[in-house]
Amino acid sequence: MTIIKQKVLFISGSPRKGNTEYTIRKLYDSFSGSRDIICLREYRIDYCNGCMACKKTSVCTIKDDMDAINQRVLNSDILIIGSPNYFDNVPGMLKTFIDRTNPLYHTKSLKGKKVVFIVFGGGRVKHSERVASGPLAHFAETHGMDVIGSFCFKALEVGETANNPQFQSDVDEILGLVSSAK
Ligand SMILES: Cc1cc2nc3c(=O)[nH]c(=O)nc-3n(C[C@H](O)[C@H](O)[C@H](O)COP(=O)(O)O)c2cc1C
Repeated sequence: MTIIKQKVLFISGSPRKGNTEYTIRKLYDSFSGSRDIICLREYRIDYCNGCMACKKTSVCTIKDDMDAINQRVLNSDILIIGSPNYFDNVPGMLKTFIDRTNPLYHTKSLKGKKVVFIVFGGGRVKHSERVASGPLAHFAETHGMDVIGSFCFKALEVGETANNPQFQSDVDEILGLVSSAK
C-alpha cells in the first residue's frame, strides 16, 4: 500500500451540483490520506478588479472568502481541479478563482505543487481536452505547477456521471495517479 504524506486539495469549479462536483466529492470521500475539499459555488469570490496591489504587497484588497481559500491552496501539495467545459473554457466562477490566485503568483508560492485536471463536457471529449490543455494548463504553467494528469469525460446532464457504469474505474484510475505522486 502506498502511503501518501502529501496533502491533497480537491476543488470543484462547477456552479452546479452536477458531474464535476459529484466526481470531486467521490474522489475526496474515497481518498484516505490528508485531504481538503472546496466547492467554489459555496463561497463568495468576487472578480479580480485588476488593481495590482498584490504585486507590491502580496495581499489582495478584496475582502471575501478568497484569502482563506488561497491559504488552503497553500497548505496543499497536490491540487485536483474539476471543471465543466463552458464554450471550451472554464466557467466564470473558476476563472475568477484563477484570477484571484494572482497574489500567489507574485510570491511564486505555488511553484512545484502538483495538479490534476478533470473536465466534463456535454460534447466531444476532444473539445473538453482544449479546456485542460488551454486555460487550465496555462494556469498551472504560469504558477510553475507540475501537471501530473488530466482526465476529460463526456457528460451533459446532472446525474450522468453517477449513472455511468465506467465511473468507478475512472475514479480508481485518478486515485491511483494521485497515490503514485511523490
Ligand atoms: C454555459 C454553458 C456552456 C457550455 N459549453 C459547452 C461546450 O462548449 N462544450 C461542451 O462539451 N459542453 C458544454 N456545456 C455542457 C457542460 O459542459 C455539461 O453540461 C457538463 O456536464 C457540466 O458539468 P457539471 O455537471 O459539472 O456542471 C456547456 C454548458 C453550459 C451551461
